[in-house]
Amino acid sequence: MQKTRDLSARIEITLRHLLVLLEPVKEILDGIEAKTIPWIPCAGWLVVASIMLIFRIDHFLISHTRLSALYPYYPWLYRAYAFGFATLGFWIWAWAEVKKKRDKLKLLKESFKNAGLQSKTGRLPQLISDFPLDPMTRKMRLTNAGFPLSSFREQGNYIESELGIFIDEIKENRENRAVDVIYSHYPMAEEVKYSPNWTSRSYEFPVGQTRAHTVTATFREIPHLLVAGQTGGGKSTFLRQFIVHIHIKHDDCRFLLIDLKGGLEFSLFENRKQFIVVPHVKAAVEQLKKIDKMLDERMAFLKKNQCKDIDAYFKKEVKVGGINLSRQVIVVDEAAEMFLAGQHASAKDVQAGRGVLSRIARQGRAVGVHLIVATQRPDAKSLDPQVKANLTGVVCFQMMNDASSIAVLGNGRATDLPKIPGRAIWKNGIEMLEVQTPLLTTEDAEALLGAPDDTEQNKPIDQVVEQPVPSENAPLVASETE
Ligand SMILES: Nc1ncnc2c1ncn2[C@@H]1O[C@H](COP(=O)(O)OP(=O)(O)O)[C@@H](O)[C@H]1O
Ligand SMILES: [Mg+2]
Repeated sequence: MQKTRDLSARIEITLRHLLVLLEPVKEILDGIEAKTIPWIPCAGWLVVASIMLIFRIDHFLISHTRLSALYPYYPWLYRAYAFGFATLGFWIWAWAEVKKKRDKLKLLKESFKNAGLQSKTGRLPQLISDFPLDPMTRKMRLTNAGFPLSSFREQGNYIESELGIFIDEIKENRENRAVDVIYSHYPMAEEVKYSPNWTSRSYEFPVGQTRAHTVTATFREIPHLLVAGQTGGGKSTFLRQFIVHIHIKHDDCRFLLIDLKGGLEFSLFENRKQFIVVPHVKAAVEQLKKIDKMLDERMAFLKKNQCKDIDAYFKKEVKVGGINLSRQVIVVDEAAEMFLAGQHASAKDVQAGRGVLSRIARQGRAVGVHLIVATQRPDAKSLDPQVKANLTGVVCFQMMNDASSIAVLGNGRATDLPKIPGRAIWKNGIEMLEVQTPLLTTEDAEALLGAPDDTEQNKPIDQVVEQPVPSENAPLVASETE
């Protein structure tokens, strides 16, 4: 009896040790997913160690010490040794992470005790998991130990200072009877003022500020953009600073602004030479048809000049004919209205409008026509999947549920965002970053724009002129064709 008990205790201990060995493996997997692994030193060591193994330098070094008898000569042992030796950098990093986590756990227990988050029976919240969401932000899941969410929130400040972390959000996770704490070791601004000085390159625009740096992108990298998020997140505000920024940096750039919910968001751009503001679907469809024609004209024109895209044209010395090739930006706020037949337009018109948007998303890049779409509803019914697939840059503000977040980002990251207006996830290909987007108030925007022009606002959006107008034809968009 005693023997079996001993044996089972021993098995339990062995299993526990095995689990401990798995911890660094998990750290490495998490680190790869969240891109927190320091690749340069780890992979650097991998290269150095591989060279040592190939030329048997390791053997040479060990044979000169008293440890020479320990060198693994058996093939299987040698393979395990070689693997461990070459990947040592990763293991050291992973163990350091495990150690940090354990220290944190200890501190956490202390701080829960001190914060009074200990039940009468002595139960404390336990750490279920703690993993990185991106290089700067982590998510820690705790058992609630019977305490309501409000108790955790009340003690948030205390836990922050005890652990030396910055908590973004404390949320309930009912399914797991747990509490999720989204936090970071770096503070993040809750408001970032827009500044025109963020960018220096041609057609570069500000995206926001992470915990460490400012993020910008250019039309060359991101020809089309999706701005998603539930109401009040900051979509229209983002569009405002985006439009103002591109306009003040490139005054030849033209805009078609489509605001399908009331038409108030873009009223400050009315009566300005480079802007056409349309407040409803019918007018939007009319303008989009013009853009459709413009795409044809531009394509034919570039073909005539034997250019694969507008950049190639600007670089060309000898040019044939001339049309105004200034860049066009089409901004659609509340795009779902465009895609669900509204009361202002027939289904046929809506269909036509959708067709043009889809075409711009597919072919606009080469001819300098860019599409920016803002929507609360990223589902296939409200946003053409073909359009969505071509919007390579995504600014996603807080989302109501995981399904919407997954539809935009491919994961639930946007539901983990704190309820701070302007806080968003920037997705650029596979890279995902939490940013605080720049705030430019309507008043500041008006000040930057100056007084409206006296011109009629319904000026044709693309004028055919005698001479080419390749003003500031510095390197512009991408040189690949679609
Ligand atoms: N980047 C930001 N920084 C600070 N506050 C912001 C920011 N963006 C939006 N807000 C605030 O949130 C409110 C709602 O923003 P808005 O752009 O209208 O959201 P949406 O268009 O997504 O419904 C704004 O009136 C503003 O007060
Ligand atoms: Mg809005």
